[in-house]
Parts: sequence; C-alpha cells; structure tokens
Amino acid sequence: MTNEHVLTELQDRVFTIRMNRLDKKNALTTAMYEGITAALLKAEADPEVRVILLAGSADCFTSGNDLADFLQNPPKGEDSAVARFMRTLATAKKPVVAAVGGFAVGVGTTLLLHCDLVYAGDKTRFHLPFVNIGICPEFASTYILPRLMGHQKAAELCLLAEPFDAATALEAGLVNAVLPNEQVEAKARESALKLAAQPPNALRTSKALLKRWREDLVVDAIRIEADKFIPMLGMPEAREAMGAFMQKRKPDFSRFS
Ligand code: COA
Repeated sequence: MTNEHVLTELQDRVFTIRMNRLDKKNALTTAMYEGITAALLKAEADPEVRVILLAGSADCFTSGNDLADFLQNPPKGEDSAVARFMRTLATAKKPVVAAVGGFAVGVGTTLLLHCDLVYAGDKTRFHLPFVNIGICPEFASTYILPRLMGHQKAAELCLLAEPFDAATALEAGLVNAVLPNEQVEAKARESALKLAAQPPNALRTSKALLKRWREDLVVDAIRIEADKFIPMLGMPEAREAMGAFMQKRKPDFSRFS
C-alpha cells in the first residue's frame, strides 16, 4: 500500500508506517492522516502483522499538522481525518513502536503519548507549540501529560511552549531511550522484532490492561479538546500566528485581549 507521503512495508511481522514529506518537514496534511489511518487499520486487521513501527527519517519525525491545511482546510469535527487518525492510534490493539529522529512538533509529540515504546534521537527537538499558534493542546495530551510528569512540568511544556530536547523528554517519561539519531530506527526495529516474537494474544491483552485506566477517558479527552481546538483555529490569534508562519514573519499578538 502506498500513498505519496505515507509509505508502508511489512517485514518480519513488523509493519512500518513512514511519513515521507521531507521537503515540508513531514508536516501532516489531511491526505497523510487518511493514509496513516488506513495503514493502521490494515495493520490491525492483518494477522501477519504483530507490531506497528511508526517512523520518519533520521533527522525529521514530523513538524506536526500542516499549517497551510489548518488555514485552508481546518478539521470540522469528529468525522475529520485528524480525529479519525487520533481515535485509531489511541485505540490500536497491536503494539506501536515509534522511531523519533529529528523534529517532533505538535501532534508529532502528542501522538507519542499513544505509542507503547518510543526511541528518540539525541538531536530530536520536541515541541508543544499549540499556545504559540493561538490554539490549545490536543490528542488527550492535556489529560495524559499532567499525569505523566506532574502539572508544573506539563504547564511549562504547554504554556511556555518552548522546544525541548531528548534528555528532557526522557526525564519527563515521554520516551524510553535516547540514541544517536542514525541509530534510532535500528533500535526501534530491534525492539519491534522482540515484540513480534512474543505470544501475540498475551501481548495484546497486556497492552489493553496497561491502558485500561485511561481508555474511555482518553477518547473523551480527545473530543473535549477538539470542542475547544476546532473553533480556535478560526479565531484571530490563530489566524495571525499561522499567517505569520506562512509569511515567514514574527506574529504580533499585541492587539488581542
Ligand atoms: N506546516 C506547513 N509547512 C511547514 C510546516 C508545517 N507544520 N513545518 C515546516 N513547513 C515547511 C516550511 O514552510 C518550509 O516550506 P518552504 O520550503 O516552502 O518555505 C519547509 O517546510 C521547511 O521548513 P523550515 O521552517 O524552513 O525548516 P526549519 O528546519 O528551519 O524549521 C521547524 C523546522 C519544524 C522547526 C519549523 O518548520 C516549524 O516550526 N514548523 C512549524 C511547526 C508547527 O507549528 N506545527 C504545528 C503544530 S500544531
């Protein structure tokens, strides 16, 4: 199965889903969300697949949602491509391993909260820039982050909203290990192969039990955040921030109260 910007491959029972739009730092378009969702569903349904591996390149995971798409083609509700992608990843039954080389911005960071094993490159820059661009965090991150790292750390990452490095992500519990960027995917694959050799029913049952405490609440949180997030995309703060990014200038929030 191939989509220009989402490549897939099945090898040794590990199904790789690779974001491949490097000229735009793997910014995620509607078509890419649809491609990743279709790939996840295919992997979940295929008995040959034991593990899903999510990757970009050695120096770029993803720069998050495509900001031009946010301006021109914003998601409208629970039926949107991004909402379907979030629900599909959040409820995936097979283990998902992420290889995070390079930028992991916006949804590139929040999607990691729904993976099972996450390996990051030592040069990876994580970023939760939602407030900076006039919107709020998504993908149940406002529910999971404070529980993972405490309110103050979550507030620092979401409200000051500065990029953070892989050592910070490791300390905060967002990733399992940090490696030189060029070794990240090999390490992720090594762990994926170990998982693929485990008894599959025991693996799926154990994953489900580990996530049971948050299962329904995560799907709720995705919806509650979206109810705020979607209208915010059309508001002046977000239009100014995203317009400024596209025009390669600094945003000016001085006129907003
Ligand atoms: N949406 C749309 N286009 C994006 C993008 C995004 N999220 N991220 C990068 N791009 C585009 C840039 O506009 C640029 O396009 P151009 O070559 O046609 O001018 C190209 O990808 C390269 O990006 P650039 O900013 O020049 O690379 P960089 O290495 O200097 O910086 C980032 C990389 C990821 C730090 C920076 O691109 C960035 O901050 N992107 C926006 C991240 C963001 O706010 N995401 C949304 C989160 S909700």
